[in-house]
Amino acid sequence: MTVTTTAWPGTARIRQSYASLAEQYTAMTASYSRFPGLQQELEAFLVTLPDGPVLDLGCGAGRDAHLTSATGRTAVLADVTIELLTATATRLATPHAVCGDAIALPFRQACFAGIIASGVLLHLPKPYTAAALTGIHRTLRPGGRALISMKHGGRDGWRTTEEFPAPRWFSYYEPEEFADACRAVGLRVVHLDKSTRKDWFTATTERPPSGGGG
Ligand SMILES: C[S@@+](CC[C@H](N)C(=O)[O-])C[C@H]1O[C@@H](n2cnc3c(N)ncnc32)[C@H](O)[C@@H]1O
Repeated sequence: MTVTTTAWPGTARIRQSYASLAEQYTAMTASYSRFPGLQQELEAFLVTLPDGPVLDLGCGAGRDAHLTSATGRTAVLADVTIELLTATATRLATPHAVCGDAIALPFRQACFAGIIASGVLLHLPKPYTAAALTGIHRTLRPGGRALISMKHGGRDGWRTTEEFPAPRWFSYYEPEEFADACRAVGLRVVHLDKSTRKDWFTATTERPPSGGGG
C-alpha cells in the first residue's frame, strides 16, 4: 500500500472549483431536502458518540455541523476551501472553524468524540486516503467514531456535472475495499451501509477504546 503524506497538488484545483461555485453549492447542500434519510442517519450516529466535540471534516455549507450543534454538542468546521468555510462559519455564527487539508489535519491527537466526513475523502486519489484515515484515527478519542460517506461504482478521475460545472476529482471504492483501508490504519469498522441515495455508501468506524484495530 502506498501512503502519501504530502499535500496533493490537485487539491488546489478542487478548492478553486468550490470557491467559484460556493454560493450555488451552499444553496444546493445547506439543508437535507436533497438528501433523503441523511438527517436520520446522522442523528442515529450522533447518539452513539461519547461526550465531546464533533468535527465536520470537509464541512462545505455546514449542514451536518448545524445539525450537530442542534443536539447540544460543539461542532468544529474544517474545510480546505477558505471562501466556503468563511461564509459557512459566518452564517452559522460559529468561531469553531479551521481551514485545513484532510490529509494533514491541523488538530491535536484524541480531541474529537466524533468526526463526520460527508463526501470529502472521495476528492483524494487513493494513494492519499491512508493519510486522511490516519488523521481521523489520530484525532478521535479512544471510543470515538467517524461517519464517512463515499461513492462506489464509478471510474476514478476528474469530472464536472451539470449541477457542478467545475472540475473535481472523484475516487470510487467498493464498500469492502474502503473498509479494508480503514482497518489498515487501526479503525474498527462498525457498520458499512449502502445508502438509498444513488451511489453513496457510509462507513461507521471507531477508534477502539484499547487503541487496537479490527
Ligand atoms: C462534496 S463537498 C461535501 C460538503 C459537505 N460535507 C456536505 O456533505 O454537504 C466536499 C467538501 O470538501 C472540501 N474538500 C475537498 N478536498 C478537501 C481536503 N483535501 N481537505 C479538506 N476539505 C476538502 C471541499 O472544499 C468541499 O467543501
